[in-house]
Amino acid sequence: MKNSYSRRDFFKMGVGFGAGALFSGMSLKAGGHKNDGFENGMRIIASGNGIRATEKAMDLLRDGADPLEAVISGVNIVENDPQDHSVGFGGLPNELGVVELDASVMYGPTHNGGAVASLQNIKNPSRVARLVMERTDHALLVGEGALQFALAHGFKKENLLTDEARKIWLKKKEQLTDDDFWFPPKSDNLEDEIRSFVETHGTINCLAINEKGDLAGVTTTSGFFFKIPGRVGDSPIIGAGLYVDNEVGAAGSTGRGEANILNCGSYSVVEFMRQGFGPEEACLRTLKRIAEKSRLQPRLIDEEGKARFQLNFYALNRKGEFGAAAMWSGANFAVHDGKVNKMHPSAYLFKDNNTK
Ligand code: GLY
Repeated sequence: MKNSYSRRDFFKMGVGFGAGALFSGMSLKAGGHKNDGFENGMRIIASGNGIRATEKAMDLLRDGADPLEAVISGVNIVENDPQDHSVGFGGLPNELGVVELDASVMYGPTHNGGAVASLQNIKNPSRVARLVMERTDHALLVGEGALQFALAHGFKKENLLTDEARKIWLKKKEQLTDDDFWFPPKSDNLEDEIRSFVETHGTINCLAINEKGDLAGVTTTSGFFFKIPGRVGDSPIIGAGLYVDNEVGAAGSTGRGEANILNCGSYSVVEFMRQGFGPEEACLRTLKRIAEKSRLQPRLIDEEGKARFQLNFYALNRKGEFGAAAMWSGANFAVHDGKVNKMHPSAYLFKDNNTK
């Protein structure tokens, strides 16, 4: 059989999954970042692919935009970028070669949210999610219904499958099995190619607090490469990929959506912050719970009993304190604290000996 166990696992389980067996060690060290040097309390934080989003969102906050408009405009940069293969235009497709997008938004002052899932042919699902929140009595629209809703609001249908994404999909299809009429790909370095995409990019989450202390957030993704058509990840699920409570804080996630959906991850992070834990500690406690629950499904753990997937949480509380944590070391996140826009290392549960 051509495909190794690790290769199949890598694609099946998503971001960073295949590297699980290489990891050892564990850290629960948590400190969090205090409100040093913030300007009027404004903060923007985002996943590791979000440094352009945090810059843009802070510019808009300074110009008086509401925090939801700020974070959506920030992630639109990544949704529109054909080089980021995990979000919007250029996102990697499902097993049929069709790009299906998921996104959610949540706005603290009204405790309202909106989301779309399995949306095809619309570049900016985050903008459609905002309209679901603002222009309907619903919280989530999916598939054809979401597309018709977007078209009704003037969005234009576009082909989201870039040539590069199509070639990656074709190679995957060709190397899937020797038991069909497709010859194997000419070069077989697909795993490395995909690994470099998912390790440098990912679903994007972006959270903001403005000078009034109002919070908002957005999460947007093309989901797992080669997913079963119709598969919906955590990004459009309020409470999993995103949760905002103006009285407490906001949280969002990237990584293996299934583990997050089954544990209501972002809701859990906010609830830990409500109990008084700092953002980073709240993320770590949520990851610890998810890692423990994963032990109930042997396929999700390695020989040391550690979760065999990557999952990241990002959190911002109403005081402007922020933090992030990942299941495995090596992740980072973007923060604009009102003065400086830079990357920070995420805390982690398990140490990957291949990362610094
Ligand atoms: N976290 C993105 C997904 O699972 O689709």
